[in-house]
Amino acid sequence: MAEKNFKRTLVTAALPYANGPVHIGHLAGVYVPADIYVRYLRLKKRPVLFIGGSDEHGVPVTIRARKEGITVQDVVDRYHNLIKDSFEKFGISFDIYSRTTSQIHHKFAADYFRKLYDDGKLIEQTSEQFYDEETHEFLTDRNIRGECPKCHSLGAYGDQCEKCGSALSPDELINPYNAINGNPLTKKSTTHWYLPLDKDQQWLEHWILDEHKEWRPNVYGQCKSWLDGGLKPRAVTRDLDWGIPVPVEGAEGKVLYVWFDAPIGYISNTKELCDAHPELGTWQTWWQDPESRLIHFIGKDNIVFHCIVFPAMLHAHGDYNLPDNVPSNEFLNLEGDKISTSRNWAVWLNEYLEDMPDKQDVLRYVLTANAPETKDNDFTWKDYQARNNNELVAIFGNFVNRAMKLTEKYFDGKVPALGELTDYDKQTLEDFKNVKTNVEELLETFKFRDAQKEAMELARIGNKYLAETEPWKLAKTDMNRVGTILNLSLQISANLAIAFEPFLPFSAAKLRNMLGMTDFEWDKLGRIDLLAAGHQLGESVLLFEKIEDEVIQGQLDRLDRIKKENEKQALLEAEKNWRPAPVADEVPFDQFAGLDIRTATVLEVKPVKKSDKLLQFTLDDGTDQPRTILSGIAQSYPDPQVLVGKQIAFVANFAPKVMRGIASNGMILSAENFDGTLHVVTLEDKVKNGSKIC
Ligand code: MF3
Ligand code: ZN
Repeated sequence: MAEKNFKRTLVTAALPYANGPVHIGHLAGVYVPADIYVRYLRLKKRPVLFIGGSDEHGVPVTIRARKEGITVQDVVDRYHNLIKDSFEKFGISFDIYSRTTSQIHHKFAADYFRKLYDDGKLIEQTSEQFYDEETHEFLTDRNIRGECPKCHSLGAYGDQCEKCGSALSPDELINPYNAINGNPLTKKSTTHWYLPLDKDQQWLEHWILDEHKEWRPNVYGQCKSWLDGGLKPRAVTRDLDWGIPVPVEGAEGKVLYVWFDAPIGYISNTKELCDAHPELGTWQTWWQDPESRLIHFIGKDNIVFHCIVFPAMLHAHGDYNLPDNVPSNEFLNLEGDKISTSRNWAVWLNEYLEDMPDKQDVLRYVLTANAPETKDNDFTWKDYQARNNNELVAIFGNFVNRAMKLTEKYFDGKVPALGELTDYDKQTLEDFKNVKTNVEELLETFKFRDAQKEAMELARIGNKYLAETEPWKLAKTDMNRVGTILNLSLQISANLAIAFEPFLPFSAAKLRNMLGMTDFEWDKLGRIDLLAAGHQLGESVLLFEKIEDEVIQGQLDRLDRIKKENEKQALLEAEKNWRPAPVADEVPFDQFAGLDIRTATVLEVKPVKKSDKLLQFTLDDGTDQPRTILSGIAQSYPDPQVLVGKQIAFVANFAPKVMRGIASNGMILSAENFDGTLHVVTLEDKVKNGSKIC
């Protein structure tokens, strides 16, 4: 395996934007897998550093600040602290969790830019950008809105129309305006510095496509499609007043692009850590020594930046190692819908910690079991409950608890001696010996989902072993045999306490505590001498608890409320953006005069059988005969009886039309509202039925 040649591993996890709390998607996609990997390496006694921090620049934090009416600094302070706290409480074991507003980082990133600038690695280009004359600012894509050129809905963003899903550039928008204040925009020329990625095409192709075929197919595939499309220069500066000032004369009002400074945050955070802890070695050792290995854990929207842009930046600077692997996950959905910060469609970690105290490991377990490693995956609360109750409680917890309780009962909580092994015992040991190599191989290749499943095999094996040997039935006749069974069960429990340390650190620690284990290095896995005969066990506690239906229902109700609120908001938004359609082409008056439109009173309305659209109207049209008309408005009138007694308008001179076996004699006039609902046109003044409308 490749890592054999490396002396140390530097693991980074994407720096989350400090523009909101973190949610289960972050945890599942990046932080849990990274933490599993790091904990595993530590257990293997391999040198590793785990680098994290908040990404505090960029447009998202400034948008949040305007929305909440507070300063950008307030926003990043609030969310940095909240995010840091959530990660800590979930046991994400960063060696450092810093932030890109730190002084060390500002200086480091500015120096990095300056070196590329001085070495002639950047190109300068002037172009026309959208500008707000009143506020004197250039606008970023997301802050520009206007009419969508494709579907003509209003309020499309400069990068995307959320109505029809088209990807857009601000230049395509019709009547672009400033999303913040509604001001119309003009074009103004501005100068920026670009990383000429086109010059990196060749070596990147070779480095990724030839030398890193082992990268995950989703990562490799995305890189290949970027490379196949041909790389273009990318701007690394922006006109913005929040960020790291461009350290070049005449660049006032310009800052480093957030995607330029943020990945440098991995390096500056390493420096901050190593400067404070010289025993860890220098930051240069971790980033520049060829025997150091670099691994980036990220989500799929970050692939191009970590596999192409950042490596190009490292290459342009020189001296740096390039990433050895970039295990990126796909996305996690929530109850079938895309997780969205703006729509509040998420399970926020800070809220989970309050609602589900002491259940961090349950979430870690479920997110790993469902990890979106190869495709998008769905988190559902029912699955969460089922995995907790049927796997963690019924298998893992139940097994350990029985082994502990029986030992307390029959042996005063002291590990009994191992007697002679039966064939069944030997078979059981055989089964569980493979678990170590299997889990190890899966972890080394970043297959965390399968690795956890394999670790769970240990618990299954133990549970089955106790169920089949039934030591509680042997207590009267063969205490030696009971001792052997319990000894083996406790050894398996001790193995669980090691194997699950990367996955479920809180439960593994509880278990080690129960077993009184002090030594738990990975390489002891698979052995049955982890607990000596006569060793005194600690007090047994429940590792996992059943989760009741009410608790799950509470979470589902919360999501339901959010969904309703979002629908209401979407409607308000649609109403605000609605404009009358353009007036249709001219027609001669005769065409209108040819239509015989009259008044009638609704005598009766009923739904038409086997149709969810049609309503059957019986009308008094002023003649002796009631008139029947079918109208496709049932969806808009859940209670059609409200129409009875109303005077309406209908077209009287259409040829009869048979639908669902009923003849319809005419057409009732309705108005279509902005939201698509239909509303029957009614008369306020009472007139004689059959009066002509002209
Ligand atoms: N803040 C980015 C995001 O949430 C990730 C930045 S990763 C780093 O998508 F490379 F910039 F650090
Ligand atoms: Zn559109």
